[in-house]
Amino acid sequence: MFLQRLISLDCEKLPSEILNRTICQDLFEALPYLPKNFVDLLIVDPPYNLTKDFNGSKFRQCDRSTYTAWLDSWISQLKPVLKPHASVYFCADWATSTVMYPVLEKHFTVRNRITWEREKGRGAQANWKNASEDIWFCTVSETYTFNVNAVKLKRQVMAPYRDLAGHPKDWDDTGSKNYRLTHPSNLWTDITVPFWSMTENTDHPTQKPEKLVAKLLLASSNPGDVVLDPFLGSGTTAVVAKKLGRQYVGIEQDPDYCCLAEKRLALADEDPTIQGYADGVFWERNTLAAQRSCPKKSMSSEA
Ligand SMILES: C[S@@+](CC[C@H](N)C(=O)[O-])C[C@H]1O[C@@H](n2cnc3c(N)ncnc32)[C@H](O)[C@@H]1O
Repeated sequence: MFLQRLISLDCEKLPSEILNRTICQDLFEALPYLPKNFVDLLIVDPPYNLTKDFNGSKFRQCDRSTYTAWLDSWISQLKPVLKPHASVYFCADWATSTVMYPVLEKHFTVRNRITWEREKGRGAQANWKNASEDIWFCTVSETYTFNVNAVKLKRQVMAPYRDLAGHPKDWDDTGSKNYRLTHPSNLWTDITVPFWSMTENTDHPTQKPEKLVAKLLLASSNPGDVVLDPFLGSGTTAVVAKKLGRQYVGIEQDPDYCCLAEKRLALADEDPTIQGYADGVFWERNTLAAQRSCPKKSMSSEA
């Protein structure tokens, strides 16, 4: 059933022919047929420079110059599909990040590097445990969307300060626990990597959390905008785009992963919630009980 939803490209397409579809094809085969100038937001989670098995298709770790050439080969072909005001995010582990940066700098204006904490991961015996990943934030030009108020983080106030009149300063007195809304920074410690009991979890080996992608989408696109993910995997970008009222196009070479994406897209109709994002704000990790009990009212915010 899900297989029938997939498409592949063999001639130039109009945006209307590929919007809200999963293209099941090698990126290099699909690239020549994508429309020009139709994408508002590009989210890229490529194979990192590590040896990794994607359902039988192995990506092999290579030297820096080979990985650089590989990145450059498809980034340069993707650029024409972007609108002049598009934003671009690239995911990477720390080592891949160092190779990626010079390529991105060549093609885009690099505006920031987000680092997010991965809770999971094996401890190393003779090195520091790898517990972080990067996301490079770039834009095509000087004009771009950034909805800062859409990505505020709701934090518990540890030392509630009151002014001379006894009123809470920059926080809301909600009873036993008090919260404030904080500006989003480039250090994210509120992300949970999907695990077995989370509804978003699939068998994909490198699935990104919906909450992480939701932050990128809400900050850097508006409802109705077009989001492209050229390495769709289990479909996280498409699913979050659908849940947040954006249009999407995903490209993924593996039919099983494409079907996972289509299954998640179908489920998104029944359950459009995103774990960790409620009432228009992002919550700290492990706060589900607090999210349910907290009164729904506007929060104080700090700069
Ligand atoms: C890091 S994963 C993306 C995971 C995704 N963000 C998610 O949340 O599930 C990279 C994906 O790119 C796919 N891939 C690798 N090379 C590709 C190519 N040349 N064309 C299309 N897809 C490719 C792999 O099959 C894999 O699913």
